[in-house]
Amino acid sequence: MTNKKPWGGRFEAPTDKLVEAFNASVDFDKRLVLEDIAGSRAHVTMLGSTNILEASETAAILEGLAQVLGEVELGVFPWRVELEDVHMNVETRLRELIGPVAGKLHTARSRNDQVALDFRLWVKGACQRMIAKLERLRGVMVSEAERHLPTNTAGVVMPGYTHLQVAQPILLSHWFMAYFEMLSRDQSRFADALERMDESPLGAGALAGTPWPIDRFQTARALGFAAPTRNSLDSVGSRDFALEFLSASSICIAHLSRISEELVLYSSFEFGFVTLPDSHTTGSSIMPQKKNPDVSELARGKAGRVFGDLVALLTVVKGTPLAYNKDFQEDKEPVFDAADTLEVILTLYADMLPLCHWNAETTKAAAARGYSTATDLADYLARQGVPFREAHEVVGKLVGLCVSSKRQLWELTNAELETAHEKLDARALEVVTVTASVAARTSYGGTAPERVREAIEAARKQLER
Ligand code: ARG
Repeated sequence: MTNKKPWGGRFEAPTDKLVEAFNASVDFDKRLVLEDIAGSRAHVTMLGSTNILEASETAAILEGLAQVLGEVELGVFPWRVELEDVHMNVETRLRELIGPVAGKLHTARSRNDQVALDFRLWVKGACQRMIAKLERLRGVMVSEAERHLPTNTAGVVMPGYTHLQVAQPILLSHWFMAYFEMLSRDQSRFADALERMDESPLGAGALAGTPWPIDRFQTARALGFAAPTRNSLDSVGSRDFALEFLSASSICIAHLSRISEELVLYSSFEFGFVTLPDSHTTGSSIMPQKKNPDVSELARGKAGRVFGDLVALLTVVKGTPLAYNKDFQEDKEPVFDAADTLEVILTLYADMLPLCHWNAETTKAAAARGYSTATDLADYLARQGVPFREAHEVVGKLVGLCVSSKRQLWELTNAELETAHEKLDARALEVVTVTASVAARTSYGGTAPERVREAIEAARKQLER
C-alpha cells in the first residue's frame, strides 16, 4: 500500500493532517466511483484506438479497472481518506493491482475534466431517476382523479379556495389534475436540463485542451453523450448543469410542499376532508388520540433544505474565476442531498396518495358552506341580460341578508328574491346547488365532470407515449 500523493513530485514535506482532512472529498465523492470507472474505461479505450497507448497497456489497464470495479461491487474496495478523492483512490488501487502501467491511464487527462465528467454522468442519472419517479407520481395523480370522478362513485366535490376562503366548488379530481399539470412541467424541466447537459467534458484536460491526438467524439459516444463540449475552459469551469438540476428539484419540491400543506390542513380534525393511511402517519408518545401527517410535514420542511442546496451552489459558483477552482468540490453534497431528498418524497407520495380516504360527505358539505355558489346566482342574473357588475351587487346584498339571518342561499324565499331583483325568483335557486355549480363550469380547463374526464383521458394518452 502506498500513501504517496499522486501529485507529490514537487513536495518535500508531508501534508498537514488537518489540511489533509479539510481537503479530502472521498467521504462523499465516493458516490461517483461507478462514473469514475466508466470514464476511465472510455478514456483508456480511446487512448488505445488513437495509438497513444499500446494495445497491451490498454488491455492491462482495462483488466485492472474491471478488478477495481469488482472490489467496489463486493464492498471490499479499500477507501483511503489520505488519497483525497475518489479519482486518486481508484487510480492508486489500480496501480497496486497492475503495477506502474496504471500510471499511463492519466495520459491526456486531468482531474479537472475527470471530475467534470463523473459529476455530469451522475447528475444525468439523477435527472433520469427523477423523471421516472415523476412519471409514476403523475400516473398516480391521474388514477386518483379517475377514481374520484362522479361516474365511478358519487364523485367527490370539495371547496375550491382563494385566500384560503371558500371560493367555488370543484371536483377533487380537478384538484388532482392540477398537481398532475405541475408535476408534468417539473418532469419536463428535468428532461430539458438533461438535454442541455448531454455533452462530454472529457478531453478538456486541466483547462486548455491537450497536445495528445485524442478523440473526444469517441469518448463522448462511448459514455452515452450526444457530443463533446466545445470549449475546454467552459468544460472544466462550469457547473450550471448541476444548478439546473437543483433548480428543477427546488421547483418540484415547492410543488410537493404545497400539496403537503393542503394534506396537513385537510387531514386535520377541523377540516376532516381526508383520512391519511396508518402506514404513512405516526402517533404521539403522550397523546393517545394523535395521528400525525409526518410525511407531509417533512416533505414541506425538506423543501427548505433543497432550496438551501440550490442557493449553496449558486453562491459557490458566483465569483469563481475561470476555469476550475477547488471551490467546485463543494458542488457535490448539495446535489446528492437534493437528489436523495426529492427521490424519497416522490416515492412516498406515489405510495401514500392511493391509500388516502377522501370523506365525500364532509367535503361536499364544506363545498356548500361559505356561499360558494353566489357566483352562479350572479351568472344566472347576467344570463337574463343584467350587466354582471349589477348582478354582482344584487347577489352581494342577498348574501348579506343570508349572513345576518344565518341562512344559506337556497333558503331565500321567493318574495326576498323578487324584491332583490325583478328578474329573480325561486327558479333561480336551481343554480345554487354544489352539483349544479360544478356541472356548469364547462369552459376548457374548467371543473365540470366532462371537462375533467377529457383532461384525464388526455393525460392518460400523454403517459402512454
Ligand atoms: N476532488 C476534486 C473536486 O471534487 C477533484 C478535482 C481536483 N482538481 C484539482 N485541480 N485539485 O473538485
